[in-house]
Amino acid sequence: MFATFTHRWEEFRLMMKFLFGMITAIALLAIVAWGTIRTGGYNVAATDPHADVMRWALKTNMENSVKGNAQSVVVPAGFSNGDPETGFSSFDAMCVHCHGGPGIERAEWAKGLLPKPPSLSEAAGKWNSAEIFWIVRNGIKLTGMPAIGDTHADKDIWKIVSFVERLPDMKPERYAELREEKAKEGGGHHGSSGGSDKEQSQADEGSDGHHEKGSNAHSSE
Ligand code: HEC
Repeated sequence: MFATFTHRWEEFRLMMKFLFGMITAIALLAIVAWGTIRTGGYNVAATDPHADVMRWALKTNMENSVKGNAQSVVVPAGFSNGDPETGFSSFDAMCVHCHGGPGIERAEWAKGLLPKPPSLSEAAGKWNSAEIFWIVRNGIKLTGMPAIGDTHADKDIWKIVSFVERLPDMKPERYAELREEKAKEGGGHHGSSGGSDKEQSQADEGSDGHHEKGSNAHSSE
């Protein structure tokens, strides 16, 4: 009888010790996290790459979040038979400066983003149509990848998806041809918002600004 009691008591003591250890560890972690946030301890400079564990956590979470969310996306019937090049002008107006394209480099400023916008030549192998649609429609928090769902109709986003899916096989010559055709037609992308002119002028301002900034930087260094 006495033996069982001591045994139980010993078990109880061990459990309490374990619980106490856990609570201390959690409290310590919370204090460290709070301290890091309050002191700006995690460097936000885009020139300072994420620690490996952070990069892994962000990437894994991003992939699982996209895959989970995209399950509710319904791919329109006949989607893959659509005219793949109809999405070109939107892609050229809204995506190519960050991601580059066949024969086209990313804009210089886009190389300074963290994470750096990946080339989309492999996106079609990595993501299915619903997932690409979801990414383009909703964007990706804290990465610079914008959401265009509020400014563009789903049918226009599907055209972009279709274009992105053709990128792996697209030759630089074809991309250049499409640009020429667009220039002849008078340019602009046929978005639902009619925002192409605005985007274009912003892009122009961006490149002017860049030159000024560039020369300042050179003279001051
Ligand atoms: C301001 C820069 C920027 C613009 C503009 C932009 N993206 Fe992105 N995009 C990113 C970044 C950065 C990532 C990487 C996000 C990450 O790794 O979590 C990304 C990721 C993606 C991915 C996933 C790629 C992969 O390999 O995992 C797709 C697909 C994509 N973008 C498509 C587009 C399309 C289509 C457009 C135009 C409508 C566009 N993006 C416009 C910055 C941009």
